[in-house]
Amino acid sequence: MYLSKEEEKILHGEQGEVPERMLRLLTQLGDIYGADKMIPVGSVQVAGVSYKSIADPGTEFLEDLAAKGAKVKVLTFLNPAGMDLENWEKLKFPKEFAKNQLRIMDAFKSMGIVITATCTPYLAGNLPRFREHIAWSESSAISFSNSVIGARTNREGGPSALAAAILGKTPNYGLHIWENRQPTIKVKIETDLIFDADYGALGYHVGKQIKNKIPYFTGIKNADTDQLKSLGAAMAASGAVALYHIEGLTPEADLVKKDHLETITVTKKELDEAYAKLNTGKEPDIVILGCPHASLREIGSVAEKLKGKHLRKPVWVCTSRMMKEAADRMGYSDIIEKAGGHIVADTCMVVSPIEDMGYKTTGVNSGKAGNYLPGFCKQNVCFANLDKLLEAVA
Ligand code: F3S
Repeated sequence: MYLSKEEEKILHGEQGEVPERMLRLLTQLGDIYGADKMIPVGSVQVAGVSYKSIADPGTEFLEDLAAKGAKVKVLTFLNPAGMDLENWEKLKFPKEFAKNQLRIMDAFKSMGIVITATCTPYLAGNLPRFREHIAWSESSAISFSNSVIGARTNREGGPSALAAAILGKTPNYGLHIWENRQPTIKVKIETDLIFDADYGALGYHVGKQIKNKIPYFTGIKNADTDQLKSLGAAMAASGAVALYHIEGLTPEADLVKKDHLETITVTKKELDEAYAKLNTGKEPDIVILGCPHASLREIGSVAEKLKGKHLRKPVWVCTSRMMKEAADRMGYSDIIEKAGGHIVADTCMVVSPIEDMGYKTTGVNSGKAGNYLPGFCKQNVCFANLDKLLEAVA
């Protein structure tokens, strides 16, 4: 892999231990994947933020980097943390967990990272442009930025994203290169997608079928950005889809080659089967919405449905701090709180310790959450559209 003179100096330790270690990591990755050179990135999103995911070794690694003076060079946001960073006490997050989570946030902050912990950074102040190279590491955010925005990122791990943030660069391979962004399978949708959850169920089914291929969808009409983020999140979770194209909707769909591709078809039958597979529970003892983190439109729609209602079970709407503040101003937070629910910022149902908070069955409308909750959080899942979920608890 070609290195510039300046990069060679970094590798020889002329800028200190941290840049040297970070560049060593990225050149090793680049060599494995056949990168020709390093390229600048416009922004980074770092995963491995929740104490539940990284525990003591990860926390100590970050504190060590911070103590050695690590600083990021480009706009860098974080993946969701393990708790609401402001309201964790009110929401009954365990104290010891909170103490450790706050240590992690301090370490990130001292590196110059924006303490915005969200999987929808593009809704919260970190919006890449078409064809911009970025290094993001949360799978739904990767899928959205590659597919809906047309920015270019590989599926970064926490350490490689952090290294990219500190150096402002990433190795040039994979989805940074146009030839590698071509679809490798066609997916014909022959069923109506009506509810929010239909996109999650579709993504869950397609991800399982196609693993890490790049799908070119036909037959999806008028999906909005909330539905697209739900579709991409589920495909990235049940498979490893980092990029998809949709005829007439996504920005690279007209530009890619889509002739002579293997084709699979999805009908109502497959969609119904996906709903059935995702449903492992009978009655939710909590409903958690906002996977990926809810947009203001999604929060508004929950508020509208909960107006004047009284919830029998807890309802959380997970979102970024920015969306929560907008929801506060719009009065949505008040309506949801009055009904007995909460807008929970900075975290989500998968990376927070819900299994230690007494919950056993979680209601979700997200294919990604439905896919991960049984394994990561020991939860049974009730997967349904928003109306049905709220009917079950209001
Ligand atoms: Fe985001 Fe958590 Fe879902 S990180 S995509 S809300 S599992």
